[in-house]
Amino acid sequence: MNAPVDATTTDAWTALSAHREALRPDLRSWFADDPGRAERFSHVLGDLHVDLSKNLLTDETVALLARLAQEVGLAERTEAMFRGERINVTEDRAVLHTALRRPPGSSPALVVDGQDVDADVRAELAKVYAFADQVRGGVWVGVTRKPVRTVVNIGIGGSDLGPVMAYEALKPYTHPDIDVRFVSNIDPTDVAETLADLDPETTLFVVASKTFGTLETLTNARLARRWLWDGLIASGAIEDEEEARTQAVARHFVAVSTALDKVAAFGIDPANAFGFWDWVGGRYSLDSAIGTALAVAIGPERFEEMLAGFHAVDEHVRTMPVENNVPVLMGLLNVWYVNFFDAHTHAVLPYAQHLHRFPAYLQQLTMESNGKSVRWDGTPVTSQTGEVFWGEPGTNGQHAFYQLIHQGTRLVPADFIAVANPAHPLRDGGTDVHGLFLANFFAQTKALAFGKTAEEVRAEGTAEDVVAARVFSGNRPTTSILAPALTPSVLGQLIALYEHITFVQGVVWGIDSFDQWGVELGKKLALEVAPAVEGDRAALDAQDPSTRALIEQYLTWRDQG
Ligand code: F6P
Repeated sequence: MNAPVDATTTDAWTALSAHREALRPDLRSWFADDPGRAERFSHVLGDLHVDLSKNLLTDETVALLARLAQEVGLAERTEAMFRGERINVTEDRAVLHTALRRPPGSSPALVVDGQDVDADVRAELAKVYAFADQVRGGVWVGVTRKPVRTVVNIGIGGSDLGPVMAYEALKPYTHPDIDVRFVSNIDPTDVAETLADLDPETTLFVVASKTFGTLETLTNARLARRWLWDGLIASGAIEDEEEARTQAVARHFVAVSTALDKVAAFGIDPANAFGFWDWVGGRYSLDSAIGTALAVAIGPERFEEMLAGFHAVDEHVRTMPVENNVPVLMGLLNVWYVNFFDAHTHAVLPYAQHLHRFPAYLQQLTMESNGKSVRWDGTPVTSQTGEVFWGEPGTNGQHAFYQLIHQGTRLVPADFIAVANPAHPLRDGGTDVHGLFLANFFAQTKALAFGKTAEEVRAEGTAEDVVAARVFSGNRPTTSILAPALTPSVLGQLIALYEHITFVQGVVWGIDSFDQWGVELGKKLALEVAPAVEGDRAALDAQDPSTRALIEQYLTWRDQG
């Protein structure tokens, strides 16, 4: 693998630094002096209308960022990813989530290391779809021959955040008689409260884990299995015998994993397991079999529509020139803010209640990908990387943290996302409530861009001593993303958009956006600390003074009940 180009040594970086130095952001006059600005910086991406014009950019900024993309070899690396080269160097893996959504019959077929990836993907999808149809049609029944009423997905990280986010986003498309729930946290409260009101006879578990070695997921899966057995035995549905318990697991547990041997060891029949491949990163896996619970909820046809949405963005990213390439422009803009405006965070603010888990999903996608301090050749990074992504749905956020975005000392670039047609077009008397909701969307991006001057505040008759507190500086950058409605395809487009944004930033910074070594140390230490938490004296004494004192405090309170 080629050594990464050090972006900071490129001519484009030098030119961007000088450009930043000279730039006096002034969105008011930029718009006043340039009637074509909104149109020129607005783009079409599939069904999405993406307006970049309220960002701190000029034509020169775009030209220089495009030059940067060229100098760091973005196009070549993008093609290397799509081709299946092992660009995840620290894990020596290809990165092929884009292969998960290639349409059936794509030509030429994608063959990597002699393996027909298209055929593999379609074969596994066919299994998932057949299973989904069986559950949805009441053909798949539990051990007492009752149809499934609740699917519980047990997984964490990429094996949870994608499915739960998409299930919430696509609620209007879900099967009316099948509820889907999600258990992720190893806090026993999660599994206990999720299962509390469920009927074991009509509950089906999907244990989703790429590695099938994740402590949280395997612990929760064992707890769920115990709950199933206890419930079925207590009601007399099955005998308390090994054979009956095995049959119950066969009818109430399926698994999704790349490690099918471990699935079998857990007691799940490999015939009830759906596979995927090590070239799918956990946080890029929703559109693999990891989406099984979602496929049950929305059905194969809608799942295919979602895949088509992903694919439309993949095609765009590959074929559009940088100047019109939305994911590339947005990724480069993020670099612009992180490295030239010292932005530490990035807000994602969906004005669509169904997208309420989208920011949480993006946190893993972006921060597990780009929170790195070394480059893909092991050398230190040469600039800041990985901003903190966060957000809440509007208008809740407006009444919580927008104060800081409007008037704080930090620059917080923000993406505003809205759909024109809601699932529930309610009216309040004569008022279209969704219209009122979106008035807030438009008003916020306007206020952030154009602010309010002291003269304008005074002109409202404001007392002089509070004028300063009521001034809004403006020039707070936002991107507006509008879609006609939150369809499965639009959701696929939104996810793929952010996947590619993340990739672009990683390439500029020269990092491997597809490994996640930073989460390993904590996992290992948790296992080492566990005996101390159980009260093992030697293990306790081996801890540092702070950790030992904390565990002792915990043990005291635990023993007091
Ligand atoms: O938290 C680290 C991580 O490896 C994520 O990257 C992954 O999505 C998650 O754990 C769950 O892993 P698995 O699907 O193997 O259970």
